Parts: sequence; structure tokens; C-alpha cells
Amino acid sequence: MRIGVIGTGHVGLITCVSLAAIGHEVVGGDNDPEKIALLERGVAPFYEPELQPMLEQQLKEGRLTFTASPAEAVKDAPVVFICVGTPPRVTGDANLVAVEQAARSVASHIADRAVVVEKSTVPSGTAQRLKRTLQRGRPQPEEHLQVVSNPEFLREGKAVHDSMHPERILVGGEAEWAFEAMREVYKPLTDQGYPLIETSIPTAELSKHASNAFLAMKISFANALARVCEKAGADVVEVADAIGADARIGRAFLNAGMGYGGSCFPKDVQAFEHLSRRLGYDFRLLQEVARINAEAIDSTLEKVRDALWNLEGKTVALLGLAFKPGTDDVREAPALTLGAKLLAEGATVTGYDPLAAANAKDVLPELHIAPDPLSAAAGADCVVICTEWPEIRDLDAGELKEVMAYPVVVDGRNAFDSGTMADHGFLYYPTGRPPLL
Ligand SMILES: NC(=O)c1ccc[n+]([C@@H]2O[C@H](COP(=O)([O-])OP(=O)(O)OC[C@H]3O[C@@H](n4cnc5c(N)ncnc54)[C@H](O)[C@@H]3O)[C@@H](O)[C@H]2O)c1
Repeated sequence: MRIGVIGTGHVGLITCVSLAAIGHEVVGGDNDPEKIALLERGVAPFYEPELQPMLEQQLKEGRLTFTASPAEAVKDAPVVFICVGTPPRVTGDANLVAVEQAARSVASHIADRAVVVEKSTVPSGTAQRLKRTLQRGRPQPEEHLQVVSNPEFLREGKAVHDSMHPERILVGGEAEWAFEAMREVYKPLTDQGYPLIETSIPTAELSKHASNAFLAMKISFANALARVCEKAGADVVEVADAIGADARIGRAFLNAGMGYGGSCFPKDVQAFEHLSRRLGYDFRLLQEVARINAEAIDSTLEKVRDALWNLEGKTVALLGLAFKPGTDDVREAPALTLGAKLLAEGATVTGYDPLAAANAKDVLPELHIAPDPLSAAAGADCVVICTEWPEIRDLDAGELKEVMAYPVVVDGRNAFDSGTMADHGFLYYPTGRPPLL
């Protein structure tokens, strides 16, 4: 099938390579000419496991091309995916300007009979507006133009895997012929047994927000639990193991730490809360989820203050800067929020990350970057574990103590073992577990 993809960022590029890999002829379009130039040379603009070789292979096999012209991307394409960004406005609701612009730029070039797929995460009701915008650009009868919602559930750091092995593919639509087109797009995956769920458009749109809000809620529950465990002398990891063993609860997303970040959870929780309010329901639980998430960073900061007293003139090393392991993405990364607060209080901050250091430096130019964890920790008064990369988890506690000015570790991800830290004489502040003071 000939497929056009508008927006070749984290979701759009993965969509391009995975649709090409399952046999479609894909043209990816983006209004960022520098990104397109990189992609045409076969260079992925961001890190994602398996992405680079897959991009090279699909380009070589000729099923994938890129263009800076939206008209070219959608030309003769019976299916067009919209994958542009939907960042938050200051009010918390989703900014849909890019979605509208993308629709306007393709409207008059769209094929005679086309399904436009809303893959970006958008508030319920967006498909109607999208359709109206497309119709304005090129009036077409219902049987020639349909909009469907096909939210993306991929996880950064596992995005290629998630696209090629989806737990479910969700399609919300109205017309049978549009559902039929989407069944054809995903046939190579459904033939392997991956389920495709068909719903109405509002149900599909809402499911994405509900999914992210629920996962964020689990993380915030674990973080609130951590605060209580700290006061009660309990161990949040053991509590999470105990309650997570119950299949009704599940162990996933119950790790207490510095909270969620990234380009999705913070904005989607806000956008869902905002949407609910606009629809007439005050979803206060979501406000609390966001508040507990912010509190998780402040609680980590409080431990640094407790260990170091005044921060002026002290050096703090942040190990891990990406919002989670496996990615170079630092959007809404808790490490950088903490870093900004430490800098504001007069500390010198050094950071290490295996992939995200350059992106972190762009966001926080005052950050000193070290090439490896031990160099970052060298001479530090305190190390904070912000992202649980394997190379950080596997650090040798003895070597770490050797290079630090004082052996103080605030473990924002419970990456280290308390027994080992005790053996080496660290002042150790884990999250939601008894500290070694
Ligand atoms: N990143 C994730 O893990 C993830 C997961 C699921 C869903 N989503 C959702 O997918 C959407 C995209 O997210 P992302 O992380 O890929 O964003 P991104 O910022 O990485 O990519 C967006 C891309 O769209 C391009 N773009 C913007 N306006 C355009 C236009 N008018 N025409 C053509 N291209 C345009 C940008 O240049 C950029 O390359 C968002 O709604 C997001 O919430 C993201």
C-alpha cells in the first residue's frame, strides 16, 4: 500500500520504518528540512534501539523515502498518517496548531479516496475538526474522505519493538471502508496474531489519554507510598512487590523514584484533566497525580539538602539525564528539573548520561558534562541517581566512593543495593526505603 506520513519525529519516523518493514511503500514528510536531509542520508535524528539499521535497510530496499513537501508525501496515498507534535499550552490543554497546519498543508493534495489517520495524541473531538479542515481544502463526499483515530502506544526506548509487536492496535472510525483500509494496513501484523480493536472515534481518542493517565497514576501512587514508607520505616520496593504480586494490581509502573517525565505523561495527564474540565467533569485525581509527580523531585532535593546542608559551593553529580533509560530524550526529564533547582541554590552540577548528555546541555547550559559516571562523581559532595541506566546500576560502589569528596548518594531510582552501600560506608538516601545515615 502507498502510505504518506506527516511528521517524522519520535512517533512518525518509527511509523515510517515499521510500515515499510511490513511491506508498504512509505513516504515520510516533515516541515523541518534539516531533519529530512538527515533522513534522506539514512541518519536517524534521535536514538532508539534498532532504529538506525532498520532505517538504512528500508531506504536501501526502496520502500521508504522522505520529502520536505507535504504534497509529495500524500500524493496517491490512500492512507495518510498525521504524526505531528501536540505539546501542552500554558493552560495545560493540547496545542493542536501543528495538527491543523499539517491537515491544511495536505488537504488540497490528498488522493481521490483517502483515509487520514490521526496518530498524534489529541483530545477527543479532534477528528471532527480534522475532517472539517480537510474538507475545506478539498471538498469530497463521505465515501471519498474519512478520518480515523489510531493512537500510538509505543514506549520510547522500545519503540521499534512495540511497533512491530503491538499489544493491541486501536482504530476508531465511522465508515466500514475506512476500517477496511486500516485492516489492510495492519494485515501483516494481525496475520501474526496481534489484535486490532475497532471502536468509535471518541472511544479511541479517549483511550490513549486514559491509558497514559492510568500509568502515570500508578507511578504517582508508588511515589506517594514512598513518602509514607519513609515515615513508617517500611520499604516501598517490598511493598510494591507484595501488592504487585496480585494480578488485579500488577507490578509494572509501581517503581517509586523521581517521577515520570518525557514528552507524553506530563502533557497527556494535563491535557486529559483539561479536556475533562472542558467537558464538565472535574477530574481532580489527575491534578493530584501531577502534584505528587512534582513532589517526587522536591523530595529528592530535600534529601540532597539534608545531606549537604547549604548547597552553595557544593558539587552535585547527576547520574542519568534522559527521562528514562534507553533514550536520548530529555523532554520533561526529572534530572534536568532537579539540576535547575540545584543550580538555582548555588551548587555546581555535573551530569553524565550515555546518550542524552548533548541534549541535556542544550536545555541546561550551566551543566558540566562528564564522559563517564566516575568522572562525573570525581570530587562530588553528593551523587544523585536520576536515571537507572545499566551502566549506572552496575557501578562499583568501592570505585565510586574512592573518587567522591564525600560518600553521599541520593538514589532517586533505587538503583543500588542498601547492603552494598552500607558495606562501603556510604551515607545513602534511597527512595521510600530506610536510609543509611
Ligand atoms: N514520543 C512518544 O513516545 C509518543 C508515544 C505515543 C504518542 N505520542 C504522540 O505522538 C505525537 C508526536 O510525538 P513525537 O514525540 O513524535 O513528537 P516530535 O516532536 O518528536 O515529532 C513531531 C514532528 O512533526 C513535525 N511537524 C510539526 N509540524 C508539522 C507540519 N505542519 N508538517 C509536517 N511536519 C510537522 C516536526 O518537525 C517533528 O519532526 C504527539 O501527539 C505525542 O503525544 C508520542
